[in-house]
Amino acid sequence: MNFKVHLSKNQCLNLDFNSNHLVCVKREDLIHPYISGNKYRKLKYNLAQAKTEGKEVLATFGGAFSNHIAAVAAVGKEFGFKTIGVIRGEELVDKIEGNPTLKFARSCDMQFKFVTREAFRNKISEDFIQDLQREFGDFYLIPEGGTNDLAIKGCEEILTNEDEKFDYICCSVGTGGTISGIINASKPDQKVLGFPALKGDFLQEEISKFAKNSNWQLITDYHFGGYAKINPKLIGFMNQFKSDYGIPLDPIYTGKLLFGVMDLLSKGYFPEHSKILVIHTGGLQGISGMNELLKIKKWPLIS
Ligand SMILES: Cc1ncc(COP(=O)(O)O)c(C=O)c1O
Repeated sequence: MNFKVHLSKNQCLNLDFNSNHLVCVKREDLIHPYISGNKYRKLKYNLAQAKTEGKEVLATFGGAFSNHIAAVAAVGKEFGFKTIGVIRGEELVDKIEGNPTLKFARSCDMQFKFVTREAFRNKISEDFIQDLQREFGDFYLIPEGGTNDLAIKGCEEILTNEDEKFDYICCSVGTGGTISGIINASKPDQKVLGFPALKGDFLQEEISKFAKNSNWQLITDYHFGGYAKINPKLIGFMNQFKSDYGIPLDPIYTGKLLFGVMDLLSKGYFPEHSKILVIHTGGLQGISGMNELLKIKKWPLIS
């Protein structure tokens, strides 16, 4: 992708508690406002493939606040592809205006198809895809969350030579694509720790399909009840983290990841003098949508 991206930098934290660890955050969130973090990595080779195949339309799937939907819409606008977003939840059809993610995607000319939750579950069936093709014509299909072999190839580029000094690499896990790329690019003496943003033990198996090394482990204590579930303690942590280090976090993925890493640090999980790299995978576009929900709950907002 030849467009203006900011190469991500490692920002090391000046920890305010008595710690002899080095903790740095890889600021992949700064790559681009919408095509940021792992979305840039996952889409890079998929776009090249779509071009090679002569496709003019990208189709994909996602929920109401999906970072992936926002990124595909932005990429389509930037590179001249038409985009189709199959969205989970028929009820959202008349709620686009009040949903920052969908509103943004529409402003990039994404065409939506809203489907029931049941239909969404069958979205990769042959019948569903054929119906989509009948409705929209030919397209290049990108899976939900963007994870496929080409996405993993892109995520293998997150780590660079200067990252070889780190003992631990920590990242958030949704579908498992990002961590798989990181595992494949890591050195055997490095340990990759994945912090799932959702409940369930299926991820172990998913990651094993793509990961070529065994130097990884999932830390499953920091999902806060499940996907997109948050509480005032997490919000308080994210706001404090931003004010302490100037790094904004998203509520679905990186907020839970950093909460987990800082909690493990405070509990002495990492051996003395460990060097820890935490990957900021972006997702900041999701903050405004979450704040709309928080206003209704009368909870503190994400700053
Ligand atoms: C901001 C952010 N971080 C992390 C993840 C998790 O990535 P993966 O689905 O590849 O595990 C996602 C989801 O794609 C995401 O949007």
